[in-house]
Amino acid sequence: MSKLALFGGPKVREKPFPSWPVRDEGCKKRLAEVVDSGIWGIGGGKQAEFVRRFAEFCEASHCVACNSGTTALEIALRAAGIGPGDEVIVPPYTFIATASAAIYVGAIPVFADIDPETLTINPNAAEAAITERTAAIIAVHIAGMPCDMAALTGLARSHGLKLIEDCAQAHGAEYGGRRVGALGDAGCFSFQSSKNITAGEGGALVTNDDALYGRAWSIHNVGRVPEGGWYDHRVLGWNLRITEFQCAVLLRGLELWPDQDARRQENAARLRGHLEDIPGLRAQAFPPGATKCAYHLFPVLYDQESLDGLPLARFLEALNAEGIPAWTGYNPLYREGVFLDGLDMKGCPFACKFYTGKVDYRSLDLPNVERICRGGAFWLFHSLLLGDPSDTDDIGEAMHKVYENRAELLCR
Ligand SMILES: Cc1ncc(COP(=O)(O)O)c(C=O)c1O
Repeated sequence: MSKLALFGGPKVREKPFPSWPVRDEGCKKRLAEVVDSGIWGIGGGKQAEFVRRFAEFCEASHCVACNSGTTALEIALRAAGIGPGDEVIVPPYTFIATASAAIYVGAIPVFADIDPETLTINPNAAEAAITERTAAIIAVHIAGMPCDMAALTGLARSHGLKLIEDCAQAHGAEYGGRRVGALGDAGCFSFQSSKNITAGEGGALVTNDDALYGRAWSIHNVGRVPEGGWYDHRVLGWNLRITEFQCAVLLRGLELWPDQDARRQENAARLRGHLEDIPGLRAQAFPPGATKCAYHLFPVLYDQESLDGLPLARFLEALNAEGIPAWTGYNPLYREGVFLDGLDMKGCPFACKFYTGKVDYRSLDLPNVERICRGGAFWLFHSLLLGDPSDTDDIGEAMHKVYENRAELLCR
């Protein structure tokens, strides 16, 4: 048994993993085209080309590209008619924007627990959270793993709710063989620096609903309408537009995606195989009907008991020392300071005259998300899966090595 790098032994891996984002000549060429065109904001060809191609990519009728995934969520909720007095069901294992978007439109986020194996919202918990005030569910395809959309679509239909997909981490993921994004009323993507298709910042909304698309387009473009003039503002909108520079980079990202996706799929399958040989470590499970994960992250479920009580923090210390970057990720979202004392619960939307319910985030204690966030899971970033199979074997070998050395880790 080889000595752990943490205790002075040889590291499993000295080489860095592939870096992200990928910078290449194709990207520079497209950026230079924008510089030379002199049209850097609205009206250039790159934005029009990108929304067309991204709608195709998502198998959706329409796309509105905007300045972030957060604003895409806000636009989607607003365009879907969600507002003061409404509750929006969200999972607590997600980025803050999933919940804050609801508050931005004057609605109340209500947290429903996740499934402990898939890490996506548990449809039974979502159903239990429905009240007469519920107006929408946000299905977050966390880490790129599609939610159980059949169950959530059924819930939304039977209760007359809007279903918004948060696809910020799920570019190209598939449910029942169909791309995520337009499976519900609208889907929202992020192109922030870490994402599998990125322009540093940026976002997009896709939908098959013509009317929702029209409203979303106007909201993101200061209330204009496609057939109207420059100074023709028919609804209240904001300037949430994307730039030509971002779209140039995103178009290159779409070209590079098929090869990157194939690598992630192949290496993720290989890593799943390695995990089968290590007691106490399991890959994120696929919910029923989910056919393809985008692997923005590769979450590993950690069972401390099977590692003789070795705490996750200690496991990660040793894994990191072997040259494998990995970290623990989110807190239960309702435990973030903003939900404990950072919101004015006596002001809108919580004490709004339209809102007849009462939420108390401080008393929430949802068991699955608590367990996952308290040493029950860790993440690998998607760029670790962009190398060749031997890179993935290094990850498996390092995890195995740490497992084998657990007794020493526990007592030193
Ligand atoms: C699940 C999820 N939702 C929403 C967002 C918000 O996207 P952005 O950072 O582009 O605003 C992110 C980005 O980190 C995310 O991971």
